[in-house]
Amino acid sequence: MNIITFYSYKGGTGRSLCLVNVAVALHLSYGQKVGLIDLDCEASGLHHLFEITCRQNGDLLNFLHPRNRSISKIEQYVHEVQLVPGAVPGIFMIPTISDPKLLEEVPWDKGVEAFLSHEVFPALQRIYNLDYLLIDSRSGIASYASYALRAAHCGVLVCRPDRQNRFGISKMIEICKAAGKPYLVCVSACPNPKKNIVRLSPLFKALGEETTHVFPYMSELYFEEFISTLKMPHSALAKAYGELAKTIYNFGRE
Ligand SMILES: Nc1ncnc2c1ncn2[C@@H]1O[C@H](COP(=O)(O)OP(=O)(O)OP(=O)(O)O)[C@@H](O)[C@H]1O
Ligand SMILES: [Mg+2]
Repeated sequence: MNIITFYSYKGGTGRSLCLVNVAVALHLSYGQKVGLIDLDCEASGLHHLFEITCRQNGDLLNFLHPRNRSISKIEQYVHEVQLVPGAVPGIFMIPTISDPKLLEEVPWDKGVEAFLSHEVFPALQRIYNLDYLLIDSRSGIASYASYALRAAHCGVLVCRPDRQNRFGISKMIEICKAAGKPYLVCVSACPNPKKNIVRLSPLFKALGEETTHVFPYMSELYFEEFISTLKMPHSALAKAYGELAKTIYNFGRE
């Protein structure tokens, strides 16, 4: 099972939308079984993008609570994502619902990390026969984020082209390089990428020779998030997500 962590230095870059679109493309275009974990424990939301109602107490923070941390109960926390009515599900998610009390009671520590790495991830692979596990990491340099990157085979670093993001992506690339971690860089929500090559050049300069996926801006997403790979599969944005899914699929074959 390939573990891929979606990470951004700044928040609101489009990281979670990128993750769900890649999950859908890996499943629908490549027949892969995909697991998703929402590790953005302080500002969760992955389940909203799939429009899934999370079962009461059936989320990651509850599972990580010392009183519930039992791997034999894992299925209580996994939600199947039904993309096509009647089809065999191929996407399985452990959502998170941020809760201040639980966040205090589940401090992020080595015990949590060991439980995830040594028990949860292998159990997910075994029970759901997963090919990929996609982790939505907290933005910024938090302990969740560094764990999510350490646990992954590859990081997908999502950014926008502005000055704060340029600083952030350079930092993230430094961290990945120091750790010998493979990574892919994605520029999110770019208005008309072909016409704006010159305006993207400060970012490309900051990135150096990195190969970059650029996702075009889609105005419809301003009003309501949706999975363009499902709802607008012929859009330029869905095609760009498809290209990233292809890169990740090929990475998994290596
Ligand atoms: N290609 C795009 N075009 C237009 N808007 C976009 C695009 N991608 C993402 N957005 C918008 O950006 C906002 C943030 O997206 P998303 O929630 O995926 O970001 P995030 O990085 O996961 O944020 P957070 O750090 O809060 O978890 C959403 O409102 C979404 O609709
Ligand atoms: Mg998010």
